[in-house]
Amino acid sequence: MSVHVQNSRMTTARLRQMKVNGEKIAMLTSYDFTLASLVDEAGIDMLLVGDSASNVVCGNQYTLPVTVDEMIFLTKGVVRAAQHALVVCDMPFGSYQISEEDALRNAVKVMKESGCDGLKLEGGEEILPIVRHMVQAGIPVMGHLGLTPQSVNQFGGYGLRAKEEAEAAKLLRDAKLLDEAGCFSIVLEKIPAALAERVTKAVSCPVIGIGAGNKCDGQVLVLHDMLGLNQGFKPKFLRHFASLAQEVKSAVGDYINAVKDSSFPSTEESY
Ligand code: KIV
Repeated sequence: MSVHVQNSRMTTARLRQMKVNGEKIAMLTSYDFTLASLVDEAGIDMLLVGDSASNVVCGNQYTLPVTVDEMIFLTKGVVRAAQHALVVCDMPFGSYQISEEDALRNAVKVMKESGCDGLKLEGGEEILPIVRHMVQAGIPVMGHLGLTPQSVNQFGGYGLRAKEEAEAAKLLRDAKLLDEAGCFSIVLEKIPAALAERVTKAVSCPVIGIGAGNKCDGQVLVLHDMLGLNQGFKPKFLRHFASLAQEVKSAVGDYINAVKDSSFPSTEESY
């Protein structure tokens, strides 16, 4: 059975309870109404309007170019689709690093205009005052540690993070600080599974992994990647749960042939 029907809206309190109960949390990205409706109907717990929209939707190499207004536009469609899932929107690069005041102004704008349930921010101790500011304003904040794609130019690539003890110790400390600051959840991206397990045990909020092993409280993947729509991208942590690129190309090929040989539209498909 592939559909997990839930009859009420997901909340941050319920996610916390899922961690306590040892019930795994499933999260996927979404960027539009149509696919988000299907993912929500299938029973996903959380929908993330990731700034990966910059790559997936806009075709950029990095997540950095996407803007607050573009994220709001995409998130509105996902919010309209979500009957059950909690919808989180990524705060894009530059929208929360300038000052606490600017960060809160942007955060309030995204919450008000998109209607999402929470915001995700990349970083640890460096952004702690901003996280505290948002939490105090009543905004549910999700942290994001490990490989944080908005810092790709500093990292020099998308390699595994926190392999060395010093970076691993900082990541563990950052996770504890984000938890204490009131984050409702933390994403851990592309770090050793043993470190992700330590972090998951050390914090009270649910930890969602991507390329972080299976001991986290939940998992997240980019929807287009797990559906096999993006054939050129297959890192070790990614599982293709479908091969939709082939299906799409084959359907489009059939359509082109039917148009070219005049078999579409048929008499039944005409007025
Ligand atoms: O933008 C995104 O898709 C993300 C996930 C990879 C966690 O941040």
